[in-house]
Amino acid sequence: GQKTFKLNTGAEIPVVGLGTWQSAPGEVARAVESAIKSGYRHIDCAWMYGNENEVGQGIKASGVPREELFITTKVWGTYHRRVEEGLDSSLKALGLDYVDLLLVHWPVPLIVRGDEKIPLNEDGTRAIDKDWSPELTWKEMEKLPATGKVKAIGVSNWSIPKLERLLKDAKIVPAANQVELHPFLPQHDLVSYCQSKGIMPQAYSPLGSSGGPVLEDEKVKAIAKAHDCDPAQVVISWGVQRGVTVLPKSVTPSRIETNGRLVALTKDEMKSLDELHLQDGKHKRLIKPNWGVDLEFPLW
Ligand code: A2P
Repeated sequence: GQKTFKLNTGAEIPVVGLGTWQSAPGEVARAVESAIKSGYRHIDCAWMYGNENEVGQGIKASGVPREELFITTKVWGTYHRRVEEGLDSSLKALGLDYVDLLLVHWPVPLIVRGDEKIPLNEDGTRAIDKDWSPELTWKEMEKLPATGKVKAIGVSNWSIPKLERLLKDAKIVPAANQVELHPFLPQHDLVSYCQSKGIMPQAYSPLGSSGGPVLEDEKVKAIAKAHDCDPAQVVISWGVQRGVTVLPKSVTPSRIETNGRLVALTKDEMKSLDELHLQDGKHKRLIKPNWGVDLEFPLW
């Protein structure tokens, strides 16, 4: 089976999972099926991605028994006051009766206006539910393991200050914190903090999101050449060797297969990837949704 890490619940999580954000409904079922057939046992989903139906079809088509798979989904901002409804909606779309990990997608409760996914204010910022808080959302999340519909609960896009605030009152320590993480944004402090608290750091957009800009970096390419492998394998292996769960997205079967094969990086290679973001102009946060000014910054 695929290499795994242990979560604070005792469950094993496969170190590489297939990302499904921006995977079109018409192509994601085939991507999921080919990932599982090539050895993946971990799929990262979200209600917000709008493709969980097709992801579910891909899971089913793979023929691999449910208990061998690790499936994550996320509750969107409009469901913060009713996380179980958000979960149920994902389970229905996926055709599953439980997920292995349920994350709060962003630490941002949104107002509910019809079935708008992203209700906006007049200035274009997102309409935040100011009478609610991410800490209250977590209280709702903590009720879910008892339902049997989630094996573990966690968060996504939480900064250190936000985690500190959550932990002060939490009955359950989040099993994971999924954030943007790649050599241009290594998040060293956040990764260390999470690891010190038993929270698994998970990397989304590990290749730099659309088009995989991190793969064009000269240092990454040089390391790939030395290992006679693909640049994506270098970047993914760097994450795993730091103890991070990595979630590369692809809808291309050949890339999906390659991304699942890890290489062993040397200490020097790890160090040079750890420090790559320090080069002039390299440091980059690629995912910056316009949450507006009402939030306490830094959000991340
Ligand atoms: P595609 O899905 O068309 O195969 P991230 O995981 O950081 O979000 O990056 C996803 C982007 O990187 C997508 O554009 C994806 O393209 C591309 N990608 C995924 N794997 C590879 C790979 N092994 N080589 C080159 N590009 C890749």
